[in-house]
Order: sequence, then structure tokens, then C-alpha cells
Amino acid sequence: MNIKKIFVVGSGTMGSGIAQVAITQGFDVILNDVNMDMLSKAKKNIEKAFSKNVERGKMTEEEKNAALDRLSLESSYDRVKEADLIIEAIYENIEAKQSVHKTISPLAKEDAIIATNSSSLSVTSIANVVSKPERFIGLHFFNPVPVMALLEIVVGLETSPEIVEISKEFASAMGKTPVVAKDSPGFIANRAGVVMLNEAIQMYSEGVASAEDVDTAMKLGFNHPMGPLALCDLIGNDIVLAVMEAFYKDFNDSKYRPAQLLKKMVAGKRLGIKTGKGFYNYDNKGKKIN
Ligand SMILES: NC(=O)c1ccc[n+]([C@@H]2O[C@H](COP(=O)([O-])OP(=O)(O)OC[C@H]3O[C@@H](n4cnc5c(N)ncnc54)[C@H](O)[C@@H]3O)[C@@H](O)[C@H]2O)c1
Repeated sequence: MNIKKIFVVGSGTMGSGIAQVAITQGFDVILNDVNMDMLSKAKKNIEKAFSKNVERGKMTEEEKNAALDRLSLESSYDRVKEADLIIEAIYENIEAKQSVHKTISPLAKEDAIIATNSSSLSVTSIANVVSKPERFIGLHFFNPVPVMALLEIVVGLETSPEIVEISKEFASAMGKTPVVAKDSPGFIANRAGVVMLNEAIQMYSEGVASAEDVDTAMKLGFNHPMGPLALCDLIGNDIVLAVMEAFYKDFNDSKYRPAQLLKKMVAGKRLGIKTGKGFYNYDNKGKKIN
């Protein structure tokens, strides 16, 4: 693997998390955003996370400073040409993503790999606009990136096997476990996961069990670290509904039909932790109150 320098487009939740892990693992990272405030916020959050790691003895002060030295912030695409790997992590919109890739792919090095962190859009459709679709791939990190061990590698119609292999090595170098999926809606984890979430909502709405008992059953019966209803509240019920609706449309299969209660909760702004109300109630720090 010849990846040393990474250009990350978008410094929001995912871009900043990817940058944090990459500099920790010894990569040089150029973190890019159109919004300078997002860039400074990302850097502050990374510094804060590193300081916590130092306090907890997970990192030395020298390691923290060395990692921060590997990070630079850029509001333009001028330094795309330096990168061995470009990871786009801007908001989830196909036109916006295609527009970014159309602009950056001609600026990239001959042998650079270009990736998208999209969680639901077709890698093949985004690759449509790039100059070398065979060097384009999906690298789907999970949130929060420093904590989540999984990296889904999403193989587009034109992606070359060599790029898949390099991506697997890159995943390991980032301390993540790779799984490889064809470009198909939801890839692996989200496709299976949301059906389980939806079924839990359905059972709760039928009065089969209380929210607590549905969650406890899945935690203890399936060894899940958190219950499906608490997880919906964490993800945001609006996001869960949007994903279900997209799958329902893409697969035209009733197993993806969103539960009526999920629709009602979204209409009533019971979105979960972010609105303080979902399947459970939360205080303004996001702590469950009942
Ligand atoms: N948030 C999650 O839980 C999660 C998990 C896995 C994957 N994803 C995927 O990761 C991607 C990013 O999601 P996020 O939650 O980090 O979004 P976000 O809204 O937190 O951040 C997006 C950032 O992109 C920047 N941006 C927008 N247009 C840009 C451009 N043209 N050039 C440079 N920067 C630009 C914005 O200013 C913003 O800072 C999406 O595709 C999403 O589906 C998100």
C-alpha cells in the first residue's frame, strides 16, 4: 500500500473523525471544507479528544503533538494533487457529491484513489462523473469514527480489484476491520440493521412489550450493546425513517415498509435525543430521564 497522504473533503462529523483516526495512525491529512468555521471546530474537537486521551494515559503529549503536526486545514482544493487517497465526506446529496467529484478528480494524482463515505448513495452513480471510475470506491466509516471498528468497502461496478485490495490494507492501517460489499442499497450493516429497528418499533406499537422490555430482550437475547429503540433515538428517528423509505423505494419490497408509529413520531418531532423525546425522554445533555 502506498498511501501516506490523505485529502479529506468535508470536516463535519465524519470527515473530522476520519482525519482524527488517520493522523493518530501516522497518515498526513489535509482536511478540507468550504466552511472555515467547520474546519476550526473540527481541529478544536480533535485537540480536545487527544487531550482526553493523554489524561487517560492512552497517548503521550509527544504523540499528541506529532499527530496534530500531521494535520493541515485547507479551504480550497489546491492540494488535492498531493494526496494518495481522497475521501469525500460532504453531506448526503448525490448532486452535491457528483459536483465535488467532477471538480476534484481531474486534479488528483494519476494513481490516487478516490473514495466516498456515503452511507446510502450508489458508489457507481457517483463514479459516473470521475475521470477514472476504476480507481473510485466507497469507504463507509461508522459514527463515531474513533470508536467504531467497522469499515465497509463498497465496490462500484467499475472499481478495480486492485483498489479493493489496497482499501482493505488501508482499513487495517486505520485500525478498522474491513468488510467488502457490492454497490447495493444499504451495503451490509444498515440494510440488515434497519429491518431489525423497524420490527422493534412495530412490536412496541402493537403493545407486544414495553420499550424497555423490547430493548432488554435484544440486548440480552442477541448480545447487542444497546436496544433497538434506544438506538433509534440515538440515530434520530427521522434518519431511520428516511433510510427505510429509501430502501422501500429501491427494493420495492414490503419488508422495508416503515412502521406507522415511526412515521407518526417523526411527524410529531419525537426524533429521539436531538429533540429530547423519542421512545424515551432525554435531558438537554442527551441523558435518558425515563
Ligand atoms: N453522521 C453519520 O452518522 C454518518 C455515518 C456514516 C456515514 N455518513 C456519511 O458521511 C457523509 C458526511 O456526513 P456528516 O454527518 O459528516 O455530515 P456533516 O453535515 O456533519 O458534514 C458535512 C461537511 O461537508 C462540508 N461541505 C459541504 N459541501 C462541501 C464542499 N463542496 N467541499 C468541501 N466541504 C463541503 C460542510 O461544510 C460540512 O462541514 C455523508 O455522506 C453521510 O451519509 C454519516
